Amino acid sequence: MKIVKKNSYLPEKHVCVVVPVFKGTPPAELWRAFPELEFPARSRKFKGEIGEALACHSLEQQRLFLLVGAGRAGDAADARKLACKTMALLREHRVARVLIRLITPAPLPPDYLRNLADYLHLNNYRFDRYQKKKHKAVDRIQLVCTPRTRWRADEWRAREIILDEVNRVRDLVNEIPAKVNPDSLVETVSAGAGRHGLKLEVWRQKELAANGMNGLLAVGASACCPPALLFLSHVPKNFSRTVVLVGKGITFDSGGLNLKPGSSMEEMKSDMAGAAAVLAVVRVAAALELPVKVVALAALAENMPGRRAYKPGDIITFANRKTVEVVNTDAEGRLVLADALVMAARQKPDMIIELSTLTGAMVVALGDAMAGLMCRNKRLGQALRQAAETTGELLWELPLPGEYRESITSKVADLKNANYNGASAIKAGLFLSEFVGKIPFAHLDIAGTAFLGKPNFCMSAEGASGFGVRLLVQFLQDLAK
Ligand code: BES
Ligand code: MN
Ligand code: ZN
Repeated sequence: MKIVKKNSYLPEKHVCVVVPVFKGTPPAELWRAFPELEFPARSRKFKGEIGEALACHSLEQQRLFLLVGAGRAGDAADARKLACKTMALLREHRVARVLIRLITPAPLPPDYLRNLADYLHLNNYRFDRYQKKKHKAVDRIQLVCTPRTRWRADEWRAREIILDEVNRVRDLVNEIPAKVNPDSLVETVSAGAGRHGLKLEVWRQKELAANGMNGLLAVGASACCPPALLFLSHVPKNFSRTVVLVGKGITFDSGGLNLKPGSSMEEMKSDMAGAAAVLAVVRVAAALELPVKVVALAALAENMPGRRAYKPGDIITFANRKTVEVVNTDAEGRLVLADALVMAARQKPDMIIELSTLTGAMVVALGDAMAGLMCRNKRLGQALRQAAETTGELLWELPLPGEYRESITSKVADLKNANYNGASAIKAGLFLSEFVGKIPFAHLDIAGTAFLGKPNFCMSAEGASGFGVRLLVQFLQDLAK
């Protein structure tokens, strides 16, 4: 979909016109611009609340008008909801070309328009690859603002690149587990790397064994194909900072020998959402030529039961010499991430940010509207929360209290991977922080936000959300300022 900003209101034939109505007294200009809409709006007592909508067919103009409740003018959170509602209406009316006429008392800030554009893109997405009946997507939106608003052309272009990449991540996470495994991901990522001039290093069985990547080897032992650790780097000519991103890439999480019950396994093709996101962020960093070195480490494995499967009672020795007792093979994420984090720390970056669909406890705690952030470094945590505010991928901070360290220790090894007795999302974060040394580290548990079981207030599509891509790109853009 293309979104273009126009300076004058000149709707072409058959283009649907969307008129957001903000809360409070509509400016006189609104009804001056759309006299035919004043009566229907008034008689319906249209208040401009989010969720209100009114469709009016104009015989004279031969077009559909949609009045949409828009909430507070200038409020970015309301912009997201307005975009979601608008796309739902356009889908319902099977509209392909749209003009959105924003009339407000004061100019809308660039932040508002960016959120509006992002969520129009996000809500135009559907995964219908396996359905005969395809979703009718909107293919062009014109935005006309009165008063005029400032918006740089290069920023528009950047949003398009970012949103395309977000929707590619969604395709990859939604794709069926029969088609997504470490082998297929290595192939997909290799194909993309050349196009963006990125550096890609791939470790398979031989390199993993030589480097003591024993978490990945254990988790992936009974899979369709061997595990992999990918290093995808964007190295600009000039940079002063290096950020390493780490992503959990379990292409299917059956639970292993501690097999998940049916209903918990249903969505486990999405257990590679963290890896998909961090790889996409590097592609965007390259496309936007961000002056920050960004390396994504994707820990890829399929967690399956079987003859060769790793077992409860096994003890894994990691490359940093720490040992971990496997108590539960379904707590596999932290094992593959531990390997990747050790390698991340060896690169001595300025910071490590890790994304994973790590714990069911996080879904219980925060649901699907915000992800858990765990970070002991004040500045890094603050910068991530700031980026989250900007993009709408909300974060809620949880502590990493040293008081709980004892509950992740084992009687037979240094650490254990499960049976923590409460606060298991936090303790999983504590476990991960054992593998990064002293490097500033942030853990984002995206178990609830990466894959939606049902639509929510700003995302109308079930399934993969692409959570984290816009957030991390924003973080990198802020860092480069
Ligand atoms: N991939 C799951 C976590 C998850 C659950 C992601 C629900 C998305 C939605 C993870 O590997 C897992 O199985 N975690 C277990 C750990 C437990 C066995 C200690 C959990 O949280 O239940
Ligand atoms: Mn698991
Ligand atoms: Zn998992």
